[in-house]
Amino acid sequence: MSETREHWSNSLGFVLATAGSAIGLGNIWKFPYIAGQNGGGAFVLIYLICIAIIGLPIMLCEITLGRRTQKSAVGAFRMLSPKRSHLANFIGFSMIFTAVALLVFKQYGWAVVMLMLGGMIIRFGWTSVGIIGVFTGIIILSYYSVVGGWTIGYIIKAFSGKLNYVTEQAAATQFNAFKFGLTRVIVLQIGFILLCALIIVRGVRNGIEKWSKILMPLLFVLLIILILRGLTLPGATKGVNFLLSPDLSSLTAESVLVALGHAFFTLSIGLGVIITYGSYISREQNIFKSALSIVVLDTLMAIMAGLAIFPAVFAMGFKESAGPGLVFNVLPAVFNSIPGNMGWLWAGLFFILLAIAALTSGISMLEVAVAFFVDELKWKRNKAVVLTTAITILLGVFSAISLSNWDKIEWMHQALVSAFNIKSASFFDVMDTLSSNWLLPLGGLSIALFVGWIWGIRKAIEEIRHGSHNFADVHLISLLAGLKDDPSHNNANYHVLTLASIWGIFIRFITPVAVMSAFLHEIGWMSFK
Ligand code: PHE
Repeated sequence: MSETREHWSNSLGFVLATAGSAIGLGNIWKFPYIAGQNGGGAFVLIYLICIAIIGLPIMLCEITLGRRTQKSAVGAFRMLSPKRSHLANFIGFSMIFTAVALLVFKQYGWAVVMLMLGGMIIRFGWTSVGIIGVFTGIIILSYYSVVGGWTIGYIIKAFSGKLNYVTEQAAATQFNAFKFGLTRVIVLQIGFILLCALIIVRGVRNGIEKWSKILMPLLFVLLIILILRGLTLPGATKGVNFLLSPDLSSLTAESVLVALGHAFFTLSIGLGVIITYGSYISREQNIFKSALSIVVLDTLMAIMAGLAIFPAVFAMGFKESAGPGLVFNVLPAVFNSIPGNMGWLWAGLFFILLAIAALTSGISMLEVAVAFFVDELKWKRNKAVVLTTAITILLGVFSAISLSNWDKIEWMHQALVSAFNIKSASFFDVMDTLSSNWLLPLGGLSIALFVGWIWGIRKAIEEIRHGSHNFADVHLISLLAGLKDDPSHNNANYHVLTLASIWGIFIRFITPVAVMSAFLHEIGWMSFK
């Protein structure tokens, strides 16, 4: 362990910073609109189950890997990987084989990707998971920052009175005009990335932790205000019912799997963000409790965002299934329909909140890459930040251009379309699909397999026990019976059900199978339609 490695000042610092990463556009922009599209309450119920059976177990894996190794994603895997792994070799060679098959089917783009991935896995083994994570962080930030930039743009719009409309149509007109103003969109996007870089450059304690401690509680308070306002509108209960009373008949197998996939994105798991953040905690902390708090906070924020949005949407007669435009198109109009003529203020507060949430997530994506350069290549932090920021901006600009005007980079569009057989998607969509649908589930699956079958549950639990004895020792039955501290129940023998053994079963079997189904569904091999 390096003596100079920075650490969070306490558990709260870690929990808030990590919750800051988890809580972002995923909770406040994406969760309400996919809940709206998938029937509300029943979807929320399934989402909660997914968070519990996939999110929490993998979150704990990542924190454990980080704290054990005191290294970021790449270093953590490098340190714990065996010299030779048959499983990794098998996966690598299967990919090369798949590449050959793809060549036969003239899918050259995917063939090249498979060939590179397969080669990397054979060469670097499990460490590849960390390497892919570094790229994933940059890829996500490159398009995430476009929406981050929009939120900043909408703060300015709100306070300069440009969002004073009440109809959905006027809202859409405004939004489209904004989206197509390419220069402004790119300036805002770069501004967003630079803000992330400015925070990141200050390091763990002064940068990420300090800002999270200020920004996260602020976010919470702003949400409460918005919820109170929404709930006092006439007809608001319809929105609450929509969100919280499950109608299981409206649930399709499809939406079950949508909920499963969203669990990754919203918790920032699968790319090593949590490994990296976990590497800045000291061994005295109770990481089970921290993992639980982060997952609960993230989920709470998503539900709160729903409660801030749906009562207002129903009370004002808007469509709950408006899709990705829900926040940007509908909300300003809803806010303006609130009596008191303070729409600009509500909208302004809301977009400040959204920008803050996006910012604390953005810095975590950047940190994965920065920590790689600092830990593995021994770069100075400043230099690492400058390089990763520059790459992100370069890549991100294509996403921004592609959303406003593909024509400007038609050659690229065509190249992508023919190489990857992608239909009308924009570069933004390509990046989103690549990371959310492919890289995150693949990463999460690999992390679970690695901890469950390669590094080993026993060693992982040994690490978790530092600072959280209960995790390994507590006899679940005595816990439920309220006899947690009763020695005759507690010093139980090996074969009783403990929290640790349940976690082990999840990581080895339940979580991988669940992830695999979500993954197969997302790439379209398993559709219930
Ligand atoms: N969890 C973040 C959100 O909900 C997004 C994110 C994904 C952040 C992956 C870091 C890594 O918005």
